[in-house]
Amino acid sequence: MTKTNIIKNEEIGFSQVPDRQIMDFESTFGAHHYGRLGLVVRKAEGAWLYGIDGRRHLDCLAAYSAANQGHHHPKIVAALVDALQGKYGSVISNVVYTDSLGIFLEKVANLVPQLGHRFGENGNKVLPKNGGVESVETAIKMARYYGWKAKGIEDGKQEVIVFTRNFHGRMITTISFSPTRKYKEGFGPLTPGFKIVEFGDLEGTRRAITPNTCGILVEPMQGEGGMYPAGKGFLSGLRELADEHNLLLMFDEIQVGLGRTGKMFCFEHENVVPDGIILGKAVSGGLVPVSVFVTNTKLMDMAFQPGKDGSTYGGYPLACVACNAAIDVIIEEKLVENSAKMGAILKKKILDIAARSPHVKEVRGSGLFIGIEVNSGDAMVFCRKLLDIGMLANDSYGHTIRISPPLIIGETELDYIVDKLEKVLID
Ligand SMILES: Cc1ncc(COP(=O)(O)O)c(C=O)c1O
Repeated sequence: MTKTNIIKNEEIGFSQVPDRQIMDFESTFGAHHYGRLGLVVRKAEGAWLYGIDGRRHLDCLAAYSAANQGHHHPKIVAALVDALQGKYGSVISNVVYTDSLGIFLEKVANLVPQLGHRFGENGNKVLPKNGGVESVETAIKMARYYGWKAKGIEDGKQEVIVFTRNFHGRMITTISFSPTRKYKEGFGPLTPGFKIVEFGDLEGTRRAITPNTCGILVEPMQGEGGMYPAGKGFLSGLRELADEHNLLLMFDEIQVGLGRTGKMFCFEHENVVPDGIILGKAVSGGLVPVSVFVTNTKLMDMAFQPGKDGSTYGGYPLACVACNAAIDVIIEEKLVENSAKMGAILKKKILDIAARSPHVKEVRGSGLFIGIEVNSGDAMVFCRKLLDIGMLANDSYGHTIRISPPLIIGETELDYIVDKLEKVLID
C-alpha cells in the first residue's frame, strides 16, 4: 500500500463496527444474492472510496454508472439537505401536485430529443419510477399497449423482441427474457411474450417479427452483457425495421446514458432516435433511486391514463430535487465532454497496455465505458488484484474487466488507473 493511498484515520462513516463484524452481519442476516469483494466502504467522495482505516480505492465501477457525477457531489447534496431542512423532501400522496415533480418532468422531457418522430413533434412525456427495472417494465407495458390499441393485436398475444446477452434487471418479467440461466432457473412461471435474437443480427430480427410483434427493446451498448457496443448499422437497421413494421423501438440507457459513453445518450453515436428511452442510475446522481421512461407525448397519453400505473415513491419530492441537481451538474460541469475526452485518452493508453499484455483479448467501448476482455475468460482474477492495489473494478459477463469511473475524473485519476492496469495486466 502506497502512502498516498492513506488518509488521516479520523472516525469516518456510519459506525466504527469492525469490517469483520460487518461481513459477519451480512453473512448471517443478509440474503447472499451478491458475491462481494472484500472491501467495506465507510465513505465515498468524488471518485474515491474510503475504508475504516482511511485507505482509499479509486472507484472504477461508479455503482454501474449511478455515480457518474462522483460520490456526494456537493451540489446534489446541498439540494437534498435544503429539501430536508426546508421540509419539502418527504413523500407526498400522489393525489396532489408537487412543484419539484413538475420541474423535474419538464427538465427530463426537454433533455431528451424528440422521441418517436413518426408520431409527430408533440414533445416528450416522462413517467418516473424508482429502480431501473421498474422503468423497463413501464416501457414493456407501453409497447404491449401500443400493440393492442394501435395495431389491433389480441391482448395477451403481444410480443417484444430482445437480444442475446441482454440485461434489463432482475424482476420476474425481465429475468423471463434473460438469456442467463442462473437469473431465472427455479423462478418460474416466467412472463411470456418475448423473442430473443442475436445482438447485432438484423436479419434475425427481421425473421423474428410476426403480426403480434409490438416492440423492440435493446441496450445501445451492452453493459452487463460484456461491454459490447452495437455494431455499425445495427441501431439504424432496427430503426428501419421498427418503422417498416410499426413497432416501438425502445432503448435501455440505464447504464450507458447521461454521458457515460461520451455522448449525452449512447444512441447519439449512431444518430438514431428511438420511440422510447429508459434512464436510471445517474439521473439522480447516485443518492436516491430514480428511473424514468420517456416517450413521445402521443404514445404516453395513449397508454397511461389515471389508474394505468403508479408508484408511491415514483417522482416523490426528494428524488426530484436530487434529479434536478444531478442533471444540472452533468450539463454545467460538462461531464459528457469530459467523458469523451478522458475516455479517448484512457482507451488509447489501455490499447497500448493491451498490445504488451499476454492477458488481453480485446478492448471495447467509448467514453468512460471501457471493457477489457481477458484471454483466460476470468476477469475477476484481475479485479481482485486491482482491489488489492487500490482500485475497484468488476467483471462484465465474466470475461471482461469493466472500467467505468465517475465522469468527473481528471488526468491524475486517469494516470492512476493506467498505472494499476499496467501492474496487473503486464506480468
Ligand atoms: C441496462 C440496464 N437495465 C436495467 C438495469 C436494472 O436497473 P436496477 O438495478 O436499478 O433495477 C440495469 C442495472 O444494472 C442495467 O444496466
